[in-house]
Amino acid sequence: MRKNIVAGNWKMNKTFSEAEELIDQIVVGMEELSLKCEVIACPPALYLEMASDYAEESRIKIGAQNVSEHEKGAYTGEISAPMLASVDIEYCIVGHSERRKYFHETHEQLAKKVDILLDYDIKPIFCCGEVLEEREKEIHFDVVKKQLEESLFHLNKDEFSNLVIAYEPVWAIGTGKTATPEQAQEMHAYIRSLIAGKYGDDTAEETTILYGGSCNPGNAKALFANKDVDGGLIGGASLKADDFLKIAQSFE
Ligand code: PGA
Repeated sequence: MRKNIVAGNWKMNKTFSEAEELIDQIVVGMEELSLKCEVIACPPALYLEMASDYAEESRIKIGAQNVSEHEKGAYTGEISAPMLASVDIEYCIVGHSERRKYFHETHEQLAKKVDILLDYDIKPIFCCGEVLEEREKEIHFDVVKKQLEESLFHLNKDEFSNLVIAYEPVWAIGTGKTATPEQAQEMHAYIRSLIAGKYGDDTAEETTILYGGSCNPGNAKALFANKDVDGGLIGGASLKADDFLKIAQSFE
């Protein structure tokens, strides 16, 4: 179901006590606000169970940042979908550009991650987006199309309806260089048209598409005001409760 979402990707930040403080501040802050969006926190894996306990008592939802494409076994250091499900994790980021770049995740591997998450009723937040060179060459639409086709379009309509898409132009991540609201809207509309072509207009209209990349309290309103932008995946600005909650209040 299409809804407004603000999701915080904490990446590899915070010690345990800092993570607990941050989640606590977000949860307490949310109690006083009437928000027009769902709020998701994606802390490092080590803190998911602690965060999940907060989710039981509040409106916050919890997501993981990654999952293994394997169900179990000899994969040292990995965390599986059944493990995430066993601590009631609702969402999981898949295919973040940092995972594609530093951990060489492939389209095929990401398709498997999406599949196993859906098997365990965890909603993937699937990231797509071009690097600067691809935008400069004006092949950004083709790049995103391929990412969706190779990792998502094997799903049937029902399966597809359980995922969230995050468009994150790589040149905007952690750089302070945000896509303009027009650039975001243009790509989001294109992504929705691809979904419509594959699954039909109703599925396209029901898909939540987030923007990510240097989103902050100062630019969130202009980005979220676009008709095809349903919220944001927030990195740096999700590490301070005040900033994160300001972003969550940026829906008209
Ligand atoms: P950023 O990161 O907000 O720090 O640019 C976004 C992301 O990587 O999800």
